[in-house]
Amino acid sequence: MLPSKLELQSFPRRNDAEIAVAAEIADLIHDRNQEGLPTVLGLATGSTPIGVYAELVRRHREQGLDFSAVTTFNLDEFVGLSPQHPASFHAFMDQHLFSKVNLPKDQTHVLAGHLPMEALEEECASFEDRIRQAGGIDFQLLGIGRNGHIGFNEPPSSGDSRTRLVTLDATTHRAYQDGFAAGEMPNYALTMGVATILESRRIVLAALGEVKADIMLALQGTFDDPDLPASFLHRHPNAALVLDAPAGSKLKDPTGSQAGGK
Ligand code: PGA
Repeated sequence: MLPSKLELQSFPRRNDAEIAVAAEIADLIHDRNQEGLPTVLGLATGSTPIGVYAELVRRHREQGLDFSAVTTFNLDEFVGLSPQHPASFHAFMDQHLFSKVNLPKDQTHVLAGHLPMEALEEECASFEDRIRQAGGIDFQLLGIGRNGHIGFNEPPSSGDSRTRLVTLDATTHRAYQDGFAAGEMPNYALTMGVATILESRRIVLAALGEVKADIMLALQGTFDDPDLPASFLHRHPNAALVLDAPAGSKLKDPTGSQAGGK
């Protein structure tokens, strides 16, 4: 029996889970603003964080949540896609968050996957440097792919991987192909590495919907396995798994305080 340190938060409905995640982020920003400290967020894209960002935007508009001292680093971006392409993660972030809150543009960092191939290694190294210069990530938001990826750390990804160029696998192609014309979806992406993610001081992985039930069950019984990149999170001292009821429906003990398995 290997111990998991992963805290499990289960909510009956998707919206409850989204609001809980947004509330944690908003409280962190608020508290650090009060202390005169900046907040460094690691952000995710995909369907999972959309409701989280909507709630953060609502709190900005209705409660004055102030993003002026927030710096953000996004997990990943497609290679060879213009930042203006509607399926790019640059465009996603502008649409769902950046254009709707008072976050200065030069405090947002999304990997520049549109640069020429020969510039990508330098871009990844620079991204790691920028995270370090910002003082590290206070809070990292994660989704999870049906193949167990976090960011675009496709299986297999080692626990000591850093920000790098990766090849997208078939599961990821199926999950994202709707945003692209036939044959247009990139085969490569840039992603923060597993080790880069694990250096965040707080990590919250949100898994929402029945489509995530099988990978949640697999995660419950898998530790430190490159074939399930999210399984490295079990060892993090301050990470939580936030689920709605459908995503947790196959777990052995979905109401337990830990997500630990074997
Ligand atoms: P999703 O993607 O939020 O659209 O399910 C998650 C992921 O691929 O990490």
